Amino acid sequence: SRASQRRREGVRILLVGERGVGKTSLILSLVSEEFPEDDDGGEDGPEDGMRIGSVLPAKAEEITIPADVTPENVPTHIVDFSEAEQTEEMLCAELRRAHVVCVVYAANDSNSLLKVTSRWLPIIRRCCDPEWPEPCPCWHIDEEAEVDLVGDDVEELVQPHAPPHLPPPPVILVGNKVDLVDEPSIDMVLTIMEQYPEIESCIECSAKTLKNISEMFYYAQKAVLHPTAPLYHMDEQD
Ligand code: GTP
Repeated sequence: SRASQRRREGVRILLVGERGVGKTSLILSLVSEEFPEDDDGGEDGPEDGMRIGSVLPAKAEEITIPADVTPENVPTHIVDFSEAEQTEEMLCAELRRAHVVCVVYAANDSNSLLKVTSRWLPIIRRCCDPEWPEPCPCWHIDEEAEVDLVGDDVEELVQPHAPPHLPPPPVILVGNKVDLVDEPSIDMVLTIMEQYPEIESCIECSAKTLKNISEMFYYAQKAVLHPTAPLYHMDEQD
């Protein structure tokens, strides 16, 4: 079965979302169990705005967590996405390799939540659902083209126009930075979940206080190994 295959191969979790919502911080907080303080130089920083001493890279390295320290006992690969460093084709290729996608917004930034439905969920459908009527931009690129994903071996070059795996990956909706808000965004999130059944679950967390960080990655593992939501494209089948 798909779940037992995943148990052998491991679960691949991809984080996407608007810039600055805290994707890299979430990954580093999980791994180090402490918040990576973003030292951008502050008032003592250099005048040209160069970041010195920052521990926060634009994109976290791909991280593999060994099976024995994960709650589901499955090797887990965690992959960051950075618009600053990666192209739309690389995003599409990563989406097609992901077993589950965490779409991250910042709880204190309503625009980042609006972009979940106006931008990120449509990109995932367009790249990962072969029956999606609107063509993925990656289908237009050169037949010979391959995307060299940062940090991958040469043999792992991905052809972005290759058909995506079925079924499309489940989505976890992640509201980060809850330490900065008093009110949860649950009403809006529930409305989104009704419209997008590929969302398996939602969680609010904080990379800063570490609230719900391990839970978020556990939900993602669980969505792959024990899916509960019917996949949205199955509605059309007999
Ligand atoms: P891009 O690389 O631009 O896509 O950003 P990103 O989504 O990886 O966000 P990043 O981890 O770089 O964090 C952006 C800023 O938000 C940094 O200054 C972080 O310190 C801050 N930040 C991240 N998570 C939290 C959080 O839970 N609470 C608070 N208060 N700040 C956070």
